Amino acid sequence: MRFIKKLSIGTKVILMVGVVMLVLIISLFSLLYNENRESTYLQLKEQAQSIADQVVLFRLWNAQNKERIEPVLSVLSNKKFKYKWKMVSTKPIGSENLPQDEFQLHAIQGFENNPSDIYRIYKSNKKDFFEYAGPIIMEKPCLRCHIDQGYRKGDIHGAIIVTIPMNEVEKNLQITKSYLAASAIILLTSIMVLLYFIIQNTVIRHLHTLMKAFRKVGKGDYNTTLEVDRGDEIGELSRSFNRMVTELRSKEKQLIQSEKLATVGKLAAGVAHEINNPLANISLYAQMLYRKIRDPDTRKKLKIIEEQADQTATIVKSLLEFSRQAEPKFELVDFNDIVNKTLNILEPQIYLNKINVKLKLDKNLPKIYADPIQIQQVLVNIVTNAVQAMEGKDDAHLEIITRSKGDKVMIVVRDNGVGILEENLDKIFDPFFSTKGVGKGTGLGLSVSYGIIENHGGEIKVKSKPGHGSIFIIILPEGEENGENTYS
Ligand SMILES: Nc1ncnc2c1ncn2[C@@H]1O[C@H](COP(=O)(O)OP(=O)(O)OP(=O)(O)O)[C@@H](O)[C@H]1O
Ligand SMILES: [Mg+2]
Repeated sequence: MRFIKKLSIGTKVILMVGVVMLVLIISLFSLLYNENRESTYLQLKEQAQSIADQVVLFRLWNAQNKERIEPVLSVLSNKKFKYKWKMVSTKPIGSENLPQDEFQLHAIQGFENNPSDIYRIYKSNKKDFFEYAGPIIMEKPCLRCHIDQGYRKGDIHGAIIVTIPMNEVEKNLQITKSYLAASAIILLTSIMVLLYFIIQNTVIRHLHTLMKAFRKVGKGDYNTTLEVDRGDEIGELSRSFNRMVTELRSKEKQLIQSEKLATVGKLAAGVAHEINNPLANISLYAQMLYRKIRDPDTRKKLKIIEEQADQTATIVKSLLEFSRQAEPKFELVDFNDIVNKTLNILEPQIYLNKINVKLKLDKNLPKIYADPIQIQQVLVNIVTNAVQAMEGKDDAHLEIITRSKGDKVMIVVRDNGVGILEENLDKIFDPFFSTKGVGKGTGLGLSVSYGIIENHGGEIKVKSKPGHGSIFIIILPEGEENGENTYS
C-alpha cells in the first residue's frame, strides 16, 4: 500500500486502468476462445453424426439385402479414414460388440430414457480423441437377426460409436489461442500507450507546471502566473493559483508597507522629540532678537530664521502625528458625514482653485465602525493631494463617490490632475515620498493614511494615468448594528 502511495498519479491511473483492461481483455478473449472451441466441437459432432447416419443406413441396406458389408466398412474405417466406428450393445450377438468403456455403457443406458446423441473428448496415448455416441433404433430389417434377443421394432438396441482423432482440430485451436493472446497483448499495449499520452497531455504536464509554480511561490517568488486556457478542473486550479499569488503579492506589499511605517514611525518619534525643543528655542531666540535689533537687514534675516524654524516645527509636528498613530477609537459612523465635513474644511482651497466638485453619495450607505477623526484625516490628505494635483488647471474636476459593496463600504476620490507616474505608484505610500519639492510636502500624508486604513482593517488603492488624473479608492468593512468590530 505504501509503495502505491508513493507512485505518481499518472502511474497509478495507468496501473489501475491496465489491471481493469487486462481482466476485461482476458475475459473477452477467453469467451471468444471458448465460443470457437464449442463451435469446433459442434462441427465434429455433426461430422460424427453424419458418419453414424451413413453407417446405420449401410447396415439397414445390408440387412434388407441379406448381405454383410460390415467387413468392407470396417476395413475402410481402419485403413482409409481417420475416424473409426463401432456398433455396441449390452446384448450383442458377438462379444466384440460389447461396450468397451464406461462412456459407451452409459450412452446405451442413457438412450433408454433419452435417445439424443452425446459426445466426449478423451486422451489416449497422449492424443486427444472425439468420441460420439448415437442411439441405434431397431428397424424391421434388423429383427431378422435380433428377434431372438427379444427386440421389437422401435427398441433402442445399442449405440453407434464414432471416434475422430483431434490432433488437427487441437492444432487449429492452439493457433487460434496464440492469435488471440497476441491480439490481446497488442490491444492492451496500444490502450496503455494511448492512455499514457492522453493522461500526460491532459493532466500530468499541467500538474507539473502547477507544481513548479507552487515551488516558486514557496520560495517567495509571487510574480509567477499560470496561463489559463481551459475550462476544466485544471483551468480552475490555475485560476485559483493566479488569484492566490495576486492576493499574496498584495499582502506582501501591505506587509512591507506596514514594516516601513513601523520603522519610520519609531525613528520619527525619536528624532521629532529631540528636535522639538531646540527648534522651539531657535524660533524663540530669533523672535527675541528680532524685537531688540533695529538693523533692517539683520531683522530680515532673523525673520527668515524664525520662518524656517516654524516650517521645520510643522514638519516635526507631522512627524509626531505620524509616529503617534494612536489606536483608533471606534464608533459607528456615517461615511457620507465625514465626506461632507472634509469638504467643509477644505472649501477655501477648493474655491481658490476653482474646482468643480461632484458628489455621488449613496444615501443607503451602511455605517462603518471606525474612528471618525482618523478617517477624516485620511480624507483630508487624499482630497488635499487631489486639489494640489489640479492646481492651475482650468477645468479641474473632483468627484467623490460612496457606495456599498457586499459587506464593505467604498469611497472613490477621482481628480483630473497631473496624475502619478507609473514608477511612482509603488512609492506614494512610502513615508517621506513626495514630488512636491522641498518645503511643500513632507511625503507623510499618504503613509499616515495607509496606516490608519490598515488599522481599520480596510484597504486603500490607487489608479492613475499621468496627465489625466488619479483615483483613490478606500474600502472599509461595514459596521455591525451592535457596534462590534467586524474585522478584528
Ligand atoms: N491625487 C494625486 N495626484 C497626483 N499625485 C498624487 C496624488 N496624491 C498623491 N500624489 C503623489 O504622491 C506623493 C505622496 O503624497 P503624500 O500625500 O504622501 O505626500 P505629499 O502630498 O507630497 O506631502 P504631505 O501630504 O505630507 O504634505 C505626492 O507627493 C504626489 O507625488
Ligand atoms: Mg499630501
